Amino acid sequence: MKFIEIRYNSPEYLLECTLRDEVLRAPLGMRLADEDLSAEIHQRHFGLFLSDGSLVACAIAVPTAPGEIKIRQMAVRPNEQGKGHGRALMTHLMRHFAVNGIRRFTLHARADVSGFYEAIGFTRSGPLFEEVGIPHVKMIHATDPR
Ligand SMILES: CC(C)(COP(=O)(O)OP(=O)(O)OC[C@H]1O[C@@H](n2cnc3c(N)ncnc32)[C@H](O)[C@@H]1OP(=O)(O)O)[C@@H](O)C(=O)NCCC(=O)NCCS
Repeated sequence: MKFIEIRYNSPEYLLECTLRDEVLRAPLGMRLADEDLSAEIHQRHFGLFLSDGSLVACAIAVPTAPGEIKIRQMAVRPNEQGKGHGRALMTHLMRHFAVNGIRRFTLHARADVSGFYEAIGFTRSGPLFEEVGIPHVKMIHATDPR
């Protein structure tokens, strides 16, 4: 399994969009193709790939403040969920940024998978709110208190 940073608009980015569409949008009756993704050129894209080049898991990192990153669009291929890939991707990603002094990670978790983020060290912050029509909760992983 290889952890790779994905270049915007590369063939790997197209694999990422296909996975995000299948895992995060189609189950909600939505299509990623209907969204304006142009801001993603400024965001950092990461994936876990098998040796045959297929994508198993992806996530996007967005700098939001000095020393802080927001994670979005975390997705694991359906037949590979529950095998530790989500944890592995987030561990790689957080270590990747930690070497550059980033110690605080935030995200908007779908409420039904907040247990995954708790399992990898995030804590809930604030009340439930709605995004893409379903309940979400803000979660934070910080190694320095703020
Ligand atoms: C949520 C998701 C990213 C988790 O990735 P994964 O590879 O399936 O999870 P892992 O196998 O790495 O699990 C790591 C830990 O989280 C726990 N966990 C995983 N999914 C969970 C869930 N839905 N609820 C509670 N705990 C969960 C596992 O039991 C495991 O705990 P352990 O290490 O203590 O045994 C993945 O299942 C997924 O893509 N789901 C559909 C899309 C989605 O909801 N994305 C997140 C949007 S915010």
